[in-house]
Amino acid sequence: MQSWAAVILAAGKGTRMKSRLSKVLHTIAGREMLRYAVDAVWGAGFERPILVVGHGAEGVRELIGSSVAYAEQQEQLGTGHALLQAKSLMRADIQQVLAINGDLPLIRPETLREVMSHHLATDATLTVLTHGGANPEGLGRVVRNGAGRVIGIVEEAEAGVKERGISELNSGVYCLRANWLWPHLEALPRSASGEYYLTDLIARAVNEGQRVEAVPLEHPEEALGINTRVHLAQAEAIVRQRIRERLMLSGVTIADPPSTFVDADVEIGEDTVILPHTTISGRSRIGRDCRIGPGTIVTDSIIGDGCVIRASMIEESTLEDEVDMGPFSHLRPGSYICTHVHIGNYVEIKKSRLGRDTQVGHFSYIGDAALGERVNIGAGTVTCNFDGVAKHQTIIGDDVFIGSDSMLVAPVTIGDRAATGAGSVVTKDVPPDKLALGVPARIRSKRGPK
Ligand code: UD1
Ligand code: CA
Repeated sequence: MQSWAAVILAAGKGTRMKSRLSKVLHTIAGREMLRYAVDAVWGAGFERPILVVGHGAEGVRELIGSSVAYAEQQEQLGTGHALLQAKSLMRADIQQVLAINGDLPLIRPETLREVMSHHLATDATLTVLTHGGANPEGLGRVVRNGAGRVIGIVEEAEAGVKERGISELNSGVYCLRANWLWPHLEALPRSASGEYYLTDLIARAVNEGQRVEAVPLEHPEEALGINTRVHLAQAEAIVRQRIRERLMLSGVTIADPPSTFVDADVEIGEDTVILPHTTISGRSRIGRDCRIGPGTIVTDSIIGDGCVIRASMIEESTLEDEVDMGPFSHLRPGSYICTHVHIGNYVEIKKSRLGRDTQVGHFSYIGDAALGERVNIGAGTVTCNFDGVAKHQTIIGDDVFIGSDSMLVAPVTIGDRAATGAGSVVTKDVPPDKLALGVPARIRSKRGPK
């Protein structure tokens, strides 16, 4: 058994992204690029990989947390220099090092395992993952000799016309024997570009008669390295298709995959149907037997079983089971909708709780409110929650009937079984079982004036 350590290189600025955000923090299907590489390395069996950070180090630490070890690269002097920064964190018993570029979001753990196995099986000093991608721009060319042995990697900046024509490319994944690696990395000369190229180790090893292996990737898309936003969009398309396929294979119907966008961290239950033009993002969780869409946007929300959400938007909210909503309604952050609630058209709900079996059928605004069970909100009702200075609460009990076009001027409480008449402007609390009527509303018995 050989003992391994893994190092993820993620200190670069990513100049070609033209961004103030460090490259590895850009998201693909809602998940930061670096998390894909870290997940792949974890998936390959490394419990605590070493992350080399530099640009945007603070953001990276915040994102990844303490489940990796951090090495700091103060100055971005190239990939060879970056790997060297991990040396001081290496346990003395480490015999093999897996090094991987942090901008490879599509690489699979199985592929990393394959390269590692090949490296051990051939007793190589250095093994590199290569691919025959259609787009060689910016990548290192893998140079082989007449006998087909790898003799070096030439970076594009240094490549002549002939080398530029080479179709085998460096993927940015390496296995290296530790006791050879560290002294040679320390002695690595600067390249003509002024950077220390990790890839210069290959020719060095070959010249010393060390065994160097190249493992060609079966699916070149896995090696897509993100240097520009064009690459980012390509990766996004591939990741999103992977997500849709995973969901479909787990029992989710997706009527129109190309127009359905689901983020990487979303969970969806069996027999839920996603209709066209629907986006489900962030940390959303959707139960079984739902119908979501067409034209629905769900962000960071929890939706129970058996819900129907047509052409609506739900943000940072929770829905229990069998909620029926839409078309064209909007749940804003902090809403909690209990079982069997019906929300119809043109309803906006913010930071409010709606009890079981409550209905808000037609164009209403419910904000900063708590509604009981079996409440009926008439068309056009508004909770007037803002007095120009501060927000106020509206409390509505169980079995309340709010007449159409009621204005509930908060702070206000409507007691159980109370009602408001159509067009009322309710400025004072309504006791249980009473009726509020008029502008401003007066309190009456439900059976007539008293
Ligand atoms: C690198 C390889 C190239 C390969 C390609 C695969 C070198 C010299 N070239 O080129 O052969 O085909 O990846 O995608 O290695 N980084 C640091 N510190 C630095 C510089 C880079 O941590 O000083 C990190 C970056 O954050 C990035 C990774 O190393 O995650 C690769 O760096 P990048 O500049 O993207 O290398 P490429 O030009 O793509
Ligand atoms: Ca790159």
